[in-house]
Amino acid sequence: MRPKPITLLLATPLICASALAAILPTSAQQSPPQQPQAQQIPADATRPGNPRLADLMEATQARHIKLWFAGVTANWKLAAYQTRQIKARLQEAASLYDSLPVSDVTTMAKPIDAVTAAIAAQDSKAFVKAYGELTAGCNSCHRELKLGFIELKTPEMNPFADQVFGVRKK
Ligand code: HEC
Repeated sequence: MRPKPITLLLATPLICASALAAILPTSAQQSPPQQPQAQQIPADATRPGNPRLADLMEATQARHIKLWFAGVTANWKLAAYQTRQIKARLQEAASLYDSLPVSDVTTMAKPIDAVTAAIAAQDSKAFVKAYGELTAGCNSCHRELKLGFIELKTPEMNPFADQVFGVRKK
């Protein structure tokens, strides 16, 4: 079978919504389905509570945790990968949302470079230091945007129990 054209794939959420409405049992039989309120995405996407930005941040948070456990178990390849993921998510956040203070995204370049350098040098001590700077960078943007209640720290435990962090002995 040929793959669906992109346009169809993009339209899937709408199709899903109506398909779900058809499948889900409703108490009112045969009455016309109620039109659900359209989800409004605010024009100013940096207002706290923006789902897309919050999701990007949560993805960044997961990588922030994974980066730590990759670094302290000296899995440098995984640590480098997680750093690239963090960088990409932050760049995406900045490019998607014009009103996100770009200066705060670019200030992140310094700690990200420091983390990258520590990883390349396989220097655990430098990694721990750079990781602290990275976390401080996250918090400084949050504080500046009056989101100081979203405070990151070095993780104490690893919630990703299904992923191998240290390097496996062959
Ligand atoms: C340029 C500014 C900026 C930087 C840098 C930044 N954030 Fe955020 N962060 C935000 C904004 C804005 C929100 C609020 C999003 C919303 O809800 O609209 C947020 C929200 C969050 C949240 C809350 C999401 C949730 O659902 O609980 C977490 C976690 C988070 N950021 C993690 C991080 C981490 C980790 C870093 C650093 C690696 C980071 N952020 C760097 C701007 C930033």
